[in-house]
Parts: sequence; C-alpha cells; structure tokens
Amino acid sequence: METSRAWWRHAVVYQIYVRSFADGNGDGTGDIDGMRRRLPYLERLGIDAVWVNPWYRSPLLDGGYDVADYREINEQFGTTSEAEAFIAEAKAHGIRVLVDLVPNHSSWDHPWFRAALAAAPGSEERARYHFLEGRGDAGEVPPNDWQSVFGGPAWTRVPDGQWYLHTYDESQPDLNWDHPAVADEFDAVMRFWLDRGAAGFRIDVAHGLVKAPGYPDAGPVQELAGMPPGQHPFIDRDGIHPIVRRWRRLLDEYDDRMMVAEAWVDASRRPLYLRPDEYHQAFDFDLLTANWDAGEFASIIAESVSSAQAVGSDPTWVLSNHDVVRHATRYGLPNGIEPGLWLLDGDRSLLDEARGARRARAAALVTLALPGSAYVYQGDELGLPEAWDLPLDALQDPIWHDSGHTVKGRDGCRVPIPWEPTGESLGFGDGGAWLPQPRAYARLAAAVQENAPDSSLDIYRRALAIRRERLVDELGFELLDAGADVLAFRRGDRFVCMTNMGDLPVSLPAGEVFFASGPFDDGELPPDTTVWMA
Ligand code: GLC
Repeated sequence: METSRAWWRHAVVYQIYVRSFADGNGDGTGDIDGMRRRLPYLERLGIDAVWVNPWYRSPLLDGGYDVADYREINEQFGTTSEAEAFIAEAKAHGIRVLVDLVPNHSSWDHPWFRAALAAAPGSEERARYHFLEGRGDAGEVPPNDWQSVFGGPAWTRVPDGQWYLHTYDESQPDLNWDHPAVADEFDAVMRFWLDRGAAGFRIDVAHGLVKAPGYPDAGPVQELAGMPPGQHPFIDRDGIHPIVRRWRRLLDEYDDRMMVAEAWVDASRRPLYLRPDEYHQAFDFDLLTANWDAGEFASIIAESVSSAQAVGSDPTWVLSNHDVVRHATRYGLPNGIEPGLWLLDGDRSLLDEARGARRARAAALVTLALPGSAYVYQGDELGLPEAWDLPLDALQDPIWHDSGHTVKGRDGCRVPIPWEPTGESLGFGDGGAWLPQPRAYARLAAAVQENAPDSSLDIYRRALAIRRERLVDELGFELLDAGADVLAFRRGDRFVCMTNMGDLPVSLPAGEVFFASGPFDDGELPPDTTVWMA
C-alpha cells in the first residue's frame, strides 16, 4: 500500500479493555461476545479501528499482560474462533482490529516458563528467559540491582537457587530476545493473528526486550531519565531496532497492516522507532503527563509533529489509556499534583470534577483536530472520570502489592463501562461487575448520553464526523500565537482550533465557530473550552 494514503495515518483508534467493556454472559467480566454486541455503537461513534487489550489465555495477574498462550483466547473472554469471527464482523462494520502483542515477557504459566522451571540451570529451556546465579556467598543476593517497574527487585529466586528476571511483576518473566527461538516464536504468533484478519499490533513494552550484555547494575538512579540516551540497562536499548525491522519485514508481506509501539522513551528518541522500516506509529505519551497549560501543550504538540514528520511519520495522540488516571480526573486536579499518587491518600478537596469534565471535552477536541492519528480509550467518549475511591480490598493491579501498598495502581481507570443508568452493573452485563462502579457512573451511562444533545458522547460523535469530512487531507499544521493561556493552531486555510486553558474568558478572533466543546457567548471563549472555527 502506498504509505501516503495508508489507513492508519489519520485513524481514530478505540481502545477496548476487554475485561471491562461489555459482559455478554453475565459472569461479571467483559468478553468477546459483549464486544461483538457493541459493534453498532462503535460504528456509530465513527472510529476506524479498535485496539483490543490482551485477550489471550492468562491467569490475569496483570490484567492479561501475563500471557500463558499467545494463540488461545482466555476462557473468560471467549474462544479463538470467536475472536476470529469478531475480527470479521468488525470489518463488516468498517472497523479494523489491532491485537495487543506482549513480547517482552510471558506469564509464569506459559509452557516455556514451566519447562524452564522444571529444567536444570544452564539448560536450553532456561535460556529462553533470563536465569542467573545470585551474588553473595550463597547466591542469596539478586544478580544485580535492577528494580521492577512495578516496585521491588526485578529478580525472583527459584528453588534450585537461580534467579529469573522480571522487569514487571514476578508473574511476568522477561523473555530472552537473544535466543533465536524467541524471535521465531513471535514471528509465528504474528502470522497467526495476521492470518486471522488482524489489522496489526499494538506492541507492549516496545522499549523493553533487550538487556545490556553482562547485566550491569543500573546504579542509584534507576529511571530512564537519569541516564544518557541508550545507556539504560533494560530500557530503550539500540538492539531493539533490528527486532523491529524483522517484524516490519514480516508485516510488509501482508497488505496494509500496521504496528504501533508502546515506547515510553524520551521524545528525542521516539523518531528512531518511526524510521521507515520500523514502526508505523509510536504513541505520543507526553500529553498523558502534561499539566493543563497552554504553553506545555503547545510545546509537546510542536515537538511531536515535527519529530514525526522528520521521519515521514505522523503523531499519535493519547489522552488516556488503561495505565493512567483518566484525564477527566487528571484535569480536575490542580497542576503539579501527581494524579497516580493523589489516588491513594491525596486531599480529596483538591478535585473539581466539573472542571475536569469540561477540560476533558476541550482536550478531546484538541487531539481530534491535530494531524496524525488519535487513540480514544473506552469511556473517554462518555467523559468517564477515574474511579478514584475504589476500596483498597477491591484492588487487583499488581502495582498495589509490588509497591508495598504505596501506589494504588491502575484499577480506577479499568472499571466496567456503564451502558445503562440502572441495574446491578449499569448494563455492563446481566450480572455484577468485577470492579465496583462509582455511583456517578449511572448518569454518564451511554444510554443516558445517547440522545442528549451536547453530551460528551454526542460531542465525540460529531467531532469524529467533522474530522472525517474536513481533517483527513494533508492540511498542514501551524501553531498560532493567541496569548499565553490559549492553545491555537491552524489546519489549512479553513480550520482553526482554539482552546482557552486559562482562568478568564478571552476574545475570539473574527470567524465562524462551527463546533465547540461547551457553551460560549458570542465573541468570547470561556475557560476550559475548545472551539473549531472556519
Ligand atoms: C504495558 C501495559 C501495562 C502492563 C505492562 C506490562 O505498559 O500497558 O498495562 O502492565 O506493559 O506488560
């Protein structure tokens, strides 16, 4: 396919967290049948594709990012043939399906890891993971100082005394990408899903995979930001790129498939992942951590647009996903408060939910107007806030345990979707819901917003329709100077997007406002509002 016209370049991709999207069989957990039944809703929303979070067989100790079988669907979610049928049915609704591929680690329930545990130190079975002897007189000290991303040491000891590496939870042993069997297996897994009609992959932990030879200590600063580019012992290493090129060659054997990288790397290194023979897209995560600040937004946007364009790619916008506090809540907190930490024991009076809701809509109209592709996390279109008051005994995210109960984790953005204003699980399914839904979710249910003019759902639908009509061409992009509190940019001659991120109304320039994220008076743009102007 000619890259300049490729479908993903301007696509709006809807992220489905299977467990929490729609429950077809009433067991309290979302499933493929539930997803299938909601395809008409997704078609009406106007998206181009869905990205489905891992749906594979898994003990779900990290929500499915602990894969026990890359070719089987988790039995709570359905079957592999249902998955295949879902891909085909989605296509009939004009929706492509991206599958989540998790190559950095498997589950400890994967047959390979079980075989590794059963085999002796030094065996071929262990070589597919990272098994090392410990330090100290009796090998009782982990092989090095690496810390897991979720907290605690990145090594766990097995009964014969060796240690295995897990840069995430101990149930997620890291695969050894220096072992040829690992690369071969992932080629086969990719073909398996591409042959079943998948439009491509979201690649999990694309910044991981490769570990520094000799497993050197990371030192006192474990963070990526504390090290020179490419020098972190297990994040963003240059050896990743040959693997990516291999995947790209494989995808290129098929027609119009794509892959998007979850690469948490410094913005300056992101273009490396986007070279013409590597990923088609890499998420721009900088807005996930940005303050509600026009200058900050503008510089992130400018950097993302220019660095993507420099390598012939396009930016890929994200406001929320299954790993961060939902933006309707982030934007309801004062700048400077770290939302993930606030969740546990932050001052509740700091949260202004109405302001968060207004800003969430305003931000959506920004990302949907920018060049490139936009990812919408399930529930964003309903304006769902984080379920920030989940009781501690309901938490399932391994971060809660691994951090020694210092970080509440990500369950609050993974609460089942409210489809109806009433019922035990607000229409999620006929039974309960695997995580309790906040009471406020009832009034945000999809059915409530369905025919309500100016509901969040209505705004998303209309924005997507306008975007499809007016913004998919190569329109160019130019930031405008409209004052310190205003984010403004132009796309071509007949489209301007303006957001007031300050506290006071600002005057609007001459021109016709044809769409707005909230009410406004003639000639004035109120705070926390975006307008699209001709
Ligand atoms: C990615 C996923 C996250 C998961 C982690 C480990 O960051 O988005 O949910 O916990 O990888 O697989």
